[in-house]
Order: sequence, then structure tokens, then C-alpha cells
Amino acid sequence: MEGRIVEVQDTWREGALVDDAKYREMYKASVSDPEAFWGEHGKRIDWMTPYTRVKNTSFEPGQISIKWFEDGKTNVAYNCVDRHLGTRGEQTAIIWEGDSPDESKHITYRELHAQVCRWANVLRNRGVGKGDRVTLYLPMVPEAAYAMLACARLGAIHAIVFGGFSPDSLAQRIQGCGSKVVITADEGLRGGRKVPLKANVDEAIKRLGSPIVEHVVVVRRTGGAVAMEPGRDVYYDEAAEQVTDECPAEPVEAEHPLFILYTSGSTGQPKGVVHTTGGYLVYASMTHQYVFDYREGDIYWCTADVGWVTGHSYIVYGPLANGATTLMFEGIPTYPSNSRFWDVVDKHKVNIFYTAPTAIRSLMGGGEGPVKKTSRASLRVLGSVGEPINPEAWDWYYKVVGDSRCAIVDTWWQTETGGILITPLPGATALKPGSATRPFFGVKPEMVDAEGKVLDGACEGNLCIADSWPGQMRTVYGDHERFEQTYFSTYPGKYFTGDGARRDTDGYYWITGRVDDVINVSGHRMGTAEVESSLVAHPKVSEAAVVGYPHNVKGQGIYAYVTLNEGENGDDGLRKELVAWVRKDIGPIASPDLIQFAPGLPKTRSGKIMRRILRKIAEDDFGSLGDTSTLADPAVVDDLIDNRQNRA
Ligand code: WT7
Repeated sequence: MEGRIVEVQDTWREGALVDDAKYREMYKASVSDPEAFWGEHGKRIDWMTPYTRVKNTSFEPGQISIKWFEDGKTNVAYNCVDRHLGTRGEQTAIIWEGDSPDESKHITYRELHAQVCRWANVLRNRGVGKGDRVTLYLPMVPEAAYAMLACARLGAIHAIVFGGFSPDSLAQRIQGCGSKVVITADEGLRGGRKVPLKANVDEAIKRLGSPIVEHVVVVRRTGGAVAMEPGRDVYYDEAAEQVTDECPAEPVEAEHPLFILYTSGSTGQPKGVVHTTGGYLVYASMTHQYVFDYREGDIYWCTADVGWVTGHSYIVYGPLANGATTLMFEGIPTYPSNSRFWDVVDKHKVNIFYTAPTAIRSLMGGGEGPVKKTSRASLRVLGSVGEPINPEAWDWYYKVVGDSRCAIVDTWWQTETGGILITPLPGATALKPGSATRPFFGVKPEMVDAEGKVLDGACEGNLCIADSWPGQMRTVYGDHERFEQTYFSTYPGKYFTGDGARRDTDGYYWITGRVDDVINVSGHRMGTAEVESSLVAHPKVSEAAVVGYPHNVKGQGIYAYVTLNEGENGDDGLRKELVAWVRKDIGPIASPDLIQFAPGLPKTRSGKIMRRILRKIAEDDFGSLGDTSTLADPAVVDDLIDNRQNRA
């Protein structure tokens, strides 16, 4: 399987930005002299004050510091909008495809400029200025992009919270970054169902201990009736009537924060990942251009939500900085039918399509029919992101969706990395289904063993990155110590990704998944600790341990072992109650798939839960539990096996 190679087709190479020789030459230059390489490529964006310093970064313990282009000044909104007006003002910047197939619209760069300026003025009138945090809790409507760019225009820092998160999760994130303004919509619309966004914001604000939020700006999406608190809440359209559509873009330092995005780790509360201005935009735009072999005039579609980093870098910032036409989709792949993705591809003549393996796998379940009845002739490049793509899903994507005609780019990266780090380039890289292949320019992957020894050649180990790249996160918001602790303390001197990987004899990387207590459910990252703390907050639960297990659509499912309080009865009714509890507490993406009631958990004599054993049982692979002799009570294992919930 792993030896299988899909060679670069002539049509992918023709007109491509780079071929294999060019990739090798550029890669070599990028890692042997990063200063020179990025000094040159930093010019791909416009600078109001040009930089003279390129790279000033340290991964040394106690002095972790990452600065790129630090004496330059620029503005992200200027680069994504204003600088295109002279050459492509009438070109479509955003194609919006609504939840219903009857609803879509095109927004030109000139219209985008007017919208972003108006939004910026509405925010400025509410006291938003440079450095202020603004929380966005929005559906996939163009206003999400306008509001992001409006914040960037003012030098304000946006913090987007995915619309699927609960009021509690939203409250935690508003509090975490102290946003005085929240932008939301009356309701979202997905797959024909309404999502009560404004009501969730009201709930969230009620839960905040102190009054943080001064203003809530509400986009009218469905027109549904919502409560409006006088003095605090305003409908965007009413506020917009009071302002003009001209607003200057504030030049900010390259290292001025652009956004905060919360992401789960193996311990504690979600971390506020901070990305800054100059390096981030250079990296997002450059990867967008090279990885997707983006060409002038292409219609580009990334199906992610702006609530995730993929939406930030590859729906909004990367494509718009490149003057591309980016498609924004409000709906879901299965509504109104399993053909929706391909219908949209045909409707808008999409050339580049970027989605997640979980979406591919869920559509595979519906067979080839819904795909084959569409043309898809416009497609040239297909992207994958979020989790390892299994070779079966890769083949289906390649053969059925792409008619064996399109390049597939399996892109590995993380919220923390800002942009794609390991990926094929369509004109350059022979593909191996299941492998994210080779590093992007400027990226130095390093494989280490458990002790941190650097491994050479073909090997299996933990994936680190040896030196900084411009898109890297700069800190954890308000907690630089945690930044260092989380990413630089396991293997001092290196950035540790948390992923395990294999490197083959061609130097290709095969990401095997997280080696920490983070699980990846449908491409969404969850800390097992978060789900556990939600479960133990339930009055009937005394203890909980959560692990991932292989799930044929979601990639990983959530498997919870739950110990109940004395006298409680574990039955299907309580299972449902616990699932509903976690959904309400964190959000639907955290719902446990399987719950096993366990009278005891496997613990060492010092009380540490042996997760390795729990993972094995959840995988239905209990023949090889390894050494259980250090358990305080080895007998619990038999009970766990007898009552396991995942049986083939
Ligand atoms: C984790 C990061 C990157 C944006 C979406 C997810 C896993 C991501 C791949 C891939 C194998 C992948 C890793 C990574 N992952 N892309 N192409 N192949 N694994 O961002 O929520 O920060 O999650 O997703 O485990 O560490 P994220």
C-alpha cells in the first residue's frame, strides 16, 4: 500500500508554479538561508513601512520569542482588499452559496471594500480600536469575512468562536480574551435547521461573572425574533445606516496580533492561540498560492467553517491576499442531497476544492451515484485537511470525485502553525495515498524518539519542527509560560507538534495521529480532559476517562468510561442523559459516541489512570494489553473487556 505512487500528470505540471526540480531548489534555499528566502517572499504583500529585519526567533528554553519582519508596518485588510481595487475592483472576491441551493451571491472587491469599511466604522463607533478584542459567533455568511477584515482594518483582534459551541464554551472564550464587543446573527441556518446564535450569546453573557461585553452587533440572517437588550444590542443594518463606507486602514506593526483562536490541548482549558500580522499573511498567502497551484481567475472553494483556522487562513486571508475568488458555503454536504458539493462545483465552476476526509467518508457511504450525475469538469486540484486521509478515502476522492484527472494535496498543519507545513505541490510532488508528503518552503521537520534523540532517514517517531516559519503562533494569549510549556518543553530547542509520524525512504511524511491526549473527531480537535471534566460535573458521575477509538466516518469517535456514584444505575436512559449533558455543556462536536459504565478504572498504585489500556479496549483490541502488572487492581480489566461497547 505504502509503496504506491501516483506520478505527477503532465497536465498538472503544465503552467504550474513549480515542478519537482524547482521545488527542491527553492526548498534548499529556504532552509539554508531563511533570512534571504523570506526577505524576498515577504515582499509578496504590501508594506506601509518596509521591513529591514526578517527573522528574529528563538526556540531556546526560557527565551521563546518569535518575530518576523518586526520593523515593518502593514495592514491585513489593506492587503486583502484595497490593494486589489486598481486591478480587480470588479472581479468577484467572494461567492456566497447559501444553505438553500436557491440562494447565492457574488461580492466584488469593490463591494467588499465598502462593506469592510462600513463594518469598521460601526465597530469604531462602539469604541473598538487597535488591540481591542472582538468575539465573532457567526454562521457562514459574508458578514463573517467583512467583520474579520473590519477588525484587521482597525488593528482590533478578532476571536472567532465556532457557531456549534455552547453558551458555556462561548462565555469561557469571551472571558478568556476580554472582548467588549460580540458580533453574532439572529440565527444560523444549516441543513434547513435554525441555530439560535443570538439566544446563545445572551446565555453566555449572563454567565460571565463581571460585565465584560458592552455591545452586541446582530446580523439579520433568518429574520427570526430575538431579544434585544436596549443600549447593548444593535442590529447591524441599523447601525450601518449611521456610518459611511470609507475608513482608513490603520498601519500596524508586523507583530501586532491579528487574531486569537481557541484550540484544545491535552490538559486544561482551551488555549488562545495568537497569530500576528505580517508573517501570518505572508505565509497564508504563499501557501495558498503554491499548495493549490492557484492561478489568476481560478474559482477556489474551501468547505471549512470560519470558526476554525482553516477558515481563517484558506477561506479569508490567504485567498483574498492573493486576489482570488473564494467561495463561502453556509450549508452542509448532505443538504438538500448528497450531491450538494458537486452541484455547487458545477454551479460556480470551481477549479480548486478543499475539504476534510470526514466529509469524503460520509459521502462515500452514499455511493458514486450522487457524484457521477454531476460534471465536475472544472476541477483541477483537490485538497484534504484535518486528519490523516485513509487510502480508501484518498482513492475515492481521486477516482470518483476527480475522475483520476485532478491532483490531490493532503495538507498537514495545525491551528498553531497558521498555515500548511507538510504537503504535496500539484506540479511537483509524486503522490502517495495517505502521505502528506514533503515539507513546504522554510519548514524543517525533525523526527525524534521518546527521549528526544533526533532520528535519521526512514523512521517512526514524534514530529517536531526545528526552526520557526513566518506563520507560526507567537504565544498563548495572556500566558506565554503556557506557550513554552506546551510546545517547547518536551523536546527543548524544538517545536513539538503533538503528532506522531513516519518518514519513508523518499523522505515523505506519514502522519499517524496525536501522541497526546487530544483526539480528532471529524477533523475537530478535542481534549479528552475537557470531555472528562464535563462528565464528572454531572451529579451522578464520580469518575470519567475519555479516549478516542477508530470510527469509520468521523476518523475518531469519543469513547467514555464512566464510574457512577454509589447506588446509581448505568442504563441507556442515563447514557442519553450524559450525551445530552456534554452536548449542552461543550457543544454537539463533543458528544460521546459510546459510554461504558465501569465500576472501576485501571489505575496504577499511585492512582494514575492507564489510558493505554482504555484505548486498547475501546479499539476492541484487548488481546495485546501489554503489561498490566503495575495496576492496583488488575481485575478491573476483565470487567472492562466484558462490558466493552465497541464490538466489530
Ligand atoms: C491536528 C491539528 C490544520 C487545520 C485543521 C485542523 C491533525 C491536520 C492533517 C493531515 C494528518 C492531520 C493533526 C494535527 N491533522 N491535518 N493532513 N494529516 N493529520 O487543525 O484543529 O489545530 O488540528 O489535526 O493531528 O496535529 P487543528
